[in-house]
Amino acid sequence: MDWGMKNRISRIIKPDTGRTVMLAVDHGYFQGPTHKLENPRKTITPLLPYADALMITRGVLRTCVPPEWDGPIVLRVSGGTSMVGESLSNETITTAFADAIRLNVAAVAISIFVGTKHEQQTLANLAKLVDMGEEHGMPVLAVTAVGREMARDARYLGLACRIAAELGAHIVKTYYTEGFDKMVEGCPAPVVMAGGKRCDTPLEALQLTYAAISEGAVGVDMGRNIWQCDDPVPMINGVRAVVHEGLTPQEALERYEAVKCECDADADKEEVIY
Ligand code: R5P
Repeated sequence: MDWGMKNRISRIIKPDTGRTVMLAVDHGYFQGPTHKLENPRKTITPLLPYADALMITRGVLRTCVPPEWDGPIVLRVSGGTSMVGESLSNETITTAFADAIRLNVAAVAISIFVGTKHEQQTLANLAKLVDMGEEHGMPVLAVTAVGREMARDARYLGLACRIAAELGAHIVKTYYTEGFDKMVEGCPAPVVMAGGKRCDTPLEALQLTYAAISEGAVGVDMGRNIWQCDDPVPMINGVRAVVHEGLTPQEALERYEAVKCECDADADKEEVIY
């Protein structure tokens, strides 16, 4: 692997732990103003100090993230569909490679829709992006998207992860399911877990994170379970404690509570000042 490619990957997957907590805020690219991400700048800003990388589209990056932030950007470059359209899987590449380079990103990200009518098209998109990535030293993160109709079982996700890795993806993002360890074993590229829908409690989200890490994920690329949580900053700190420090879910919940106390105290001070 060339120096530039290795350097970009090590900005995302931290060399001291071999792990990463990526913050996913790209949901609007097909969902529009997702709950709690209606104002992206407001949601993202307090979380930036705790994110190892930010997964985002170019539009929200340019308008809502200060260029002074020196964390790595994983740029979502696929899309072209919407929640209200005919088919979510009918994706194309929506961002020129030159623009990704202009934005100084650390990786580009694309969804694949294995088993849908657009399987071939989305896999060809990935292959093309990997060719460009290899040419320019830019890692490609492949998301094993699940269309409305696809099952999220280990057999399906394992198939999709392996295909992504075979086509040359440098990082694969997928969902947690029973048999996750086997999926990771069958995927020669590093795997990060997408959080999925918001869990009922912070402890459940920490348990999900712990399970994925214990079963071989190099980290998470998590969105809703962080910023839809009532306390996003404590939540991302809890997730970091599991991913980077190896804390158990219960120990990480104590970290969550401790950070929540600090945040509440800071908020009280602000109220006194004003
Ligand atoms: C979906 O395709 C988007 O790429 C999200 O980044 C992904 O679903 C991760 O976010 P969440 O943890 O909310 O599932």
